[in-house]
Amino acid sequence: MAPAGSRPAVLVARRLLAAGYERLAESCEITEGGIHVTRQRLLELAPGADAIVADPAVPIDAELLEAAGPQLKVVANFAVGYDNVDPEACRDRGVMVTNTPDVLTNATAELALALTLAAARRITEAEADLRAGRWTGWDPGVLLGEELSGATFGVVGLGRIGRRYAELVAPLAGEILYVSRTPKPDAERELDAARVELGELLSRSDVISLHVPASAETAGLVGTEELRAMKAHAVLVNTARGPLVDSAALAAALRAGEIGAAGLDVFESEPEVPAELLEAPRCVLLPHIGSATTRARDAMAGLVAENVLAALAGTEPPNRVA
Ligand code: 8YV
Repeated sequence: MAPAGSRPAVLVARRLLAAGYERLAESCEITEGGIHVTRQRLLELAPGADAIVADPAVPIDAELLEAAGPQLKVVANFAVGYDNVDPEACRDRGVMVTNTPDVLTNATAELALALTLAAARRITEAEADLRAGRWTGWDPGVLLGEELSGATFGVVGLGRIGRRYAELVAPLAGEILYVSRTPKPDAERELDAARVELGELLSRSDVISLHVPASAETAGLVGTEELRAMKAHAVLVNTARGPLVDSAALAAALRAGEIGAAGLDVFESEPEVPAELLEAPRCVLLPHIGSATTRARDAMAGLVAENVLAALAGTEPPNRVA
C-alpha cells in the first residue's frame, strides 16, 4: 500500500469508477490493483488496508483478510451479489461486508428482458447471418422464433430484480408464476403472480428467468432433469450467477431440441465461456453486462464510497450484509 499517513488506506482490488473514487479520494489514500490484477498482486497490496473494494471477480477469503491485517474494517463489494466474499471469515475478524443493492435493479431486469426477447426471436443469430452475407432473400420458413404475447413467464426468485423483471414482462404475459422461499402477496395482488414449486414452474412456463443468488443451495439449480421438465420451446434466461445452471446439460438440451433457446449473461468461471455453449444453437451469450448502464454503475460506485466512508467513520454502513 502507499504510505497512508493519517488518512485511511483503501485498496480498490480492481477499478472504481470516478463517481466513487473521487469521493473516497477526498479523505483516503487509494491504491488500485487494476482490472487484470492477479491474486498474488492483491496479496502484496493488501497489508495495511483499512477498507477493500472488491467485486465478484475478486475472491475475499481468510488468506486475503489475514494479509490485509487486523486494522481492516470493511469489504465493500461493487455488486449486489457477494458470493465472492466469505462472510464467516469476515465475521471472525470483525470485518463488515457491504453491497450495492437497488441501484442496479432496473438495469439488470431490463437486460433480462432484452435477453428474453433476443433468445426467443433469435436476434443475434439473425444479425450474425446478415453480417456474414448469408441473407440471400426473405424466406418464410427461416429464423422462426417464439412469440411471447400471452406466454407464461416463470420467475425463479422474486427479490428486487426478479420482481422488476416480472413487472416488465407483465404487459406481455398471459400468466406469471414464481418460486420464492416466502410468499409475495404484493406481487400476487399487483401482478396476478402465482407462487408454485420449482417443478411446476419448469413444466408450465414458456419463459424461465433466474433471479436467485449463488449459494450452496442454488448451485446446479437447473441441470439435466430440470431442463427435461421444461417445454420443448421454453426460453431459459440467466442474469443471476453462472453456477445456477449446468452448462454442459444446457448445451446438450439446446442441441437435442429439448428446450427452445437460452439467454445467458453469466457463467461459472468468468471470463471463461464454456466451449459447448459457444457452439450450442439458439443461445445468446453476453459478457456479464446486467448492470452495465452509466446510471447504474455510477450509482453503484457512489454506494461503494458511502459504505466505505461510513465504516471508516465507525458508523453503520447503509448496505451492510455481513
Ligand atoms: C456487476 C453483478 O456488474 O451486482 C452484481 O451482483 O453481478 C453486476 O451488477 C458485476 O458484479 C461487476 O461489479
